[in-house]
Amino acid sequence: MNSITINPAASIRGDITVPGDKSISHRSIMLGAIANGITTVRGFLRGEDNISTMSAFRAMGVEIDDDGETLHIHGCGLHGLKEPSDVLDCGNSGTTIRLITGLLSGQSFFSVVTGDQYLRKRPMKRVVEPLSRMGAKISGRNQGSLAPLAISGARLTPIDYESPVSSAQIKSSIMLAGLYADGETSVQEPTLSRDHSERMFKLFGASINRYDRGVTVSGGARLNAQEVIVPGDISSAAFFMVAALISPGSELIIRNVGVNPTRTGVIDILREMGGDIKLLEQREVSGEPVADILIRSSRLKGISISGSVIPRAIDEFPAICVAAACAEGVTTIRNAKELRVKETDRISAMAGNLRTLGVEVTECDDGMDIRGVESLSGGEVDSFGDHRIAMSLSVAALVARSGITVKDTDCVATSFPNFFQLLEKASVK
Ligand code: S3P
Repeated sequence: MNSITINPAASIRGDITVPGDKSISHRSIMLGAIANGITTVRGFLRGEDNISTMSAFRAMGVEIDDDGETLHIHGCGLHGLKEPSDVLDCGNSGTTIRLITGLLSGQSFFSVVTGDQYLRKRPMKRVVEPLSRMGAKISGRNQGSLAPLAISGARLTPIDYESPVSSAQIKSSIMLAGLYADGETSVQEPTLSRDHSERMFKLFGASINRYDRGVTVSGGARLNAQEVIVPGDISSAAFFMVAALISPGSELIIRNVGVNPTRTGVIDILREMGGDIKLLEQREVSGEPVADILIRSSRLKGISISGSVIPRAIDEFPAICVAAACAEGVTTIRNAKELRVKETDRISAMAGNLRTLGVEVTECDDGMDIRGVESLSGGEVDSFGDHRIAMSLSVAALVARSGITVKDTDCVATSFPNFFQLLEKASVK
């Protein structure tokens, strides 16, 4: 298990790009695989999570060429996937296992999906339950609530599902199953979660209808291969946004970042805290809004965060916690219970680690209160195998009084393989 010690930096400066969006990269493989024709994907994130998705589809007979720049996915049509001869290992990736389970439910073959020690602890009932209502035959540990999951392909019938949580993984899993159901499948959620599936279904020509907090997908539509250009991942950019905001004398531009409104909660939150963040050159690429982001260091203040912004910033809370720890006053986070079932329990992980760095944190069931400090102390902190915890704590180290050692940093490769190199490049000593 590797550890990394990050030393304080004077400021964060430069002109950088971050790797491709993880959510969009997953979906480009999945839809490319079941479309007709050859889909090309540029800007694909070659992180471990997305490699898991790529390997799973290769194991189902999909030819995917990768020249290091562009992927060529030889789509085999809605009904062309082949029974995999072995278990499909989704690694650490919740998106892979939950979305693929929806897709596999409607196939005519048997499959088993599993993942690493962290993924095998994460809740799967949230997709198994609605998919079972559609007629899917899925069994798994603990009454089908934990992976490995065994899926016997079945004829699916449409449902109209009111999801109790705002989750793009639940929504997308049902949408993918809906492609194989006979009729119209609908999903509603309490507040809109990321809508990359809706946008990409439309791009590939699926028959979908969006309304308020819901979407309807018609089964049986033919998907057509596309050219997909994946923008930079705002979740990866978030670490650098926070780094530049909290480090005095910083000015950073991050080019080509996806700024889909269902993902920009982090920008809204950091701006409300007083952060100087500007979106430049706003444009649309492959059906997704994209911009360059200019960030200048700012004096941050504590705010209250709750309600519909939570799903729009769900992956950015570890980084937002670091911003809160450096802000003046108290930041309260509520309605964020979902953070407890991410790659690790992110409420407890960030609370414990920030306390190690001298910050007063009070945890509650669905959030936390963080009282900002003048300066963070150095020390040894733990990622708990969670990439976003590891990267957030590395950013905190930039403004600590002395170095911070982050334990267990290999996980960073799941979403941002060149994170430490880029941090080093942008840090001015
Ligand atoms: C994702 C959805 C989110 C997010 C995850 C990626 C996706 O999970 O946390 O990192 O690609 O659909 P939930 O939908 O479970 O909130």
